[in-house]
Amino acid sequence: MAYSDKVIDHYENPRNVGSLDKNAKNVGTGMVGAPACGDVMRLQIQVGDDGIIEDAKFKTYGCGSAIASSSLVTEWLKGKTIDEARAIKNLDIAQELALPPVKVHCSVLAEDAIKAAIEDYQAKSAIA
Ligand code: FES
Ligand code: FES
Repeated sequence: MAYSDKVIDHYENPRNVGSLDKNAKNVGTGMVGAPACGDVMRLQIQVGDDGIIEDAKFKTYGCGSAIASSSLVTEWLKGKTIDEARAIKNLDIAQELALPPVKVHCSVLAEDAIKAAIEDYQAKSAIA
């Protein structure tokens, strides 16, 4: 299968690989798996007092497209509000990376991971 240059770039030079303190109150952690292939993605966001996402990190055990999708979304997330982050759609990711149809579920994983990270963050803020 031919990968697009953007996938290869993010795969070879992934942005924002790593971890944030998952116990911090302003950090949301999303951990999701793809039933289709068993790949796992962990995405974390750190939200500032102003409600803006100031940092994002990921670790993905999966294919090149999943790694590229998570790398790309960590770049997109920084500087966004929670509502803007929630609006990121897997098709935006698939389009940006020119994913072939069989790899679209890899971008779904990234969208699910964003939503899971937001849910975790909001659950934590609710018990403030
Ligand atoms: Fe997920 Fe290939 S099927 S790594
Ligand atoms: Fe399953 Fe990419 S996440 S093949």
